[in-house]
Amino acid sequence: MLYDLVVIGTGPGGYVCAIRAAQLGMKVAVVEKRKTHGGTCLNVGCIPSKALLHASEMFDEARHGFAALGIKATAELDLPTMMKHRADTVTSNVTGIDFLMKKNKITPIHGTGRILSPAQVEVTAADGAVQVIDTKAIVIATGSDVARLPGIEIDERQVVSSTGALELDAVPARLIVVGAGVIGLELGSVWRRLGSKVTVVEYLDRILPGMDTEVAKAFQRILEKQGFAFKLGTKVTGIEKTGAGLTATVEPAAGGAAETIEADVVLVAIGRVPFTAGLGLDEVGVAKDPRGRVVIDDHFRTNVPGIYAIGDVVRGPMLAHKAEDEGVALAEMLAGQAGHVNYDVIPGVVYTMPEVATVGKSEDDLKAAGIAYRVGKFPFTANGRAKANRQTDGFVKILADAATDRVLGVHILGAGAGEMIHEAAVLMEFGGSAEDLARTCHAHPTMSEAVKEAAMAVDKRAIHM
Ligand code: FAD
Ligand code: NAI
Repeated sequence: MLYDLVVIGTGPGGYVCAIRAAQLGMKVAVVEKRKTHGGTCLNVGCIPSKALLHASEMFDEARHGFAALGIKATAELDLPTMMKHRADTVTSNVTGIDFLMKKNKITPIHGTGRILSPAQVEVTAADGAVQVIDTKAIVIATGSDVARLPGIEIDERQVVSSTGALELDAVPARLIVVGAGVIGLELGSVWRRLGSKVTVVEYLDRILPGMDTEVAKAFQRILEKQGFAFKLGTKVTGIEKTGAGLTATVEPAAGGAAETIEADVVLVAIGRVPFTAGLGLDEVGVAKDPRGRVVIDDHFRTNVPGIYAIGDVVRGPMLAHKAEDEGVALAEMLAGQAGHVNYDVIPGVVYTMPEVATVGKSEDDLKAAGIAYRVGKFPFTANGRAKANRQTDGFVKILADAATDRVLGVHILGAGAGEMIHEAAVLMEFGGSAEDLARTCHAHPTMSEAVKEAAMAVDKRAIHM
């Protein structure tokens, strides 16, 4: 059998690329070393984390939010059932991918793929059986793996990565999170809501590097009110097992006196690294950059003709929807169409409570690039629906070009921000202005009215402020 396309890795990049290629008439096989499809995202990333974020938020609401709404309830944690909800959510999502593979007549091959040449992939199954698949093109969609701290071993029980943090069988009384990035704040939120005392140790002097500084600072204050403790500008230099617990040694990032913090569990969440081990890239001559990412051009082509790469294993944000859009664009290019990804309009969401959602440039980006801009801001404290929901934390911030009024960036800190951000993404995709957004009728009463009011505020004509 000669395939048109073999995709290695069935995360959001790989499975979406395979489906789109099959829709366009290609004969496609996918190679996956996990038992289930869906990659990091569906198995140990986006989906299980959101299942626990939702369940823990409901628990937190029941304990601390219901009373003010006139609901008397006592909430008791049943962690095994919450974990079953997480596992069932994963199962239902990954079996959905099996169905889509069948529907699109994609051949799934289970095992570890190694590229022998641009025309051949060797697959070694779990039982050691080896087969070689012939193909006209190969897509590397092997994703990423947890970044590790030198000298600190992750045992996934006491010292955990995100994978272990999704499966703890008891609520740790004291949780240290190393890294104030997306994983640290999302999974830190889950365990704080379930009862852990959470201390976040971050190397830099701020949380969520890369995000608009004003938004990140406001978010940090909200998290502190919720009970998070932050040690910024601090590095972990060692973790020792002490009887049933752990002792972490930390010191100022710039150097200085060390101190120790006691914990029951430490979550290491300092980023992820591209995963290409065992793929045979050096042997076939596929180039990687100094950070280990597969080097590609604007058409996802590696330096070896016939071999392409997408998703976390290449440059750009490590996000599922970015991987998916690259998968679609590449399949369309391979079919002779004009696939395209607009990297200027990729939303990013932190699924905490409140959520943080962002698209386009931050104020820091615009200052650094010397672009003149105008800012429109609107707080949820002035939004009727937010008051009705008792969800008034946060604000909407819109950055528009000072000369043309074109929207360059939108940042939302607030409940439901991850849904609201998409009207901004659509507007920006069409090159819209703050005026366009301000003149678009928004239903009342909705949280989204704050987006419209922030657009009006760019021109200092917000009504409710
Ligand atoms: P992956 O999903 O990593 O898939 C790669 C696949 O390739 C894996 O299944 C792997 O087993 C397989 N593979 C690797 N090597 C081989 C080989 N040699 N042979 C066969 N198979 C191989 N992103 C978001 O956008 N939103 C979120 O809410 C979000 N939450 C996250 C939460 C957590 C805890 C984590 C860890 C990540 C989260 N992410 C989120 C990031 C998201 O999971 C990744 O960006 C996304 O999965 C990348 O997709 P991918 O297809 O490039 O790679
Ligand atoms: P991250 O890059 O978001 O954050 C890592 C943090 O660790 C940074 O703040 C960094 O300064 C800090 N750090 C690095 N080394 C350190 C050290 N030695 N000591 C202390 N702090 C240190 O990475 P994270 O949170 O691990 O997430 C990995 C990837 O997964 C991200 O690229 C993210 O995009 C993706 N992801 C996306 C989610 C979403 O979209 N909601 C959810 C979870 C993950």
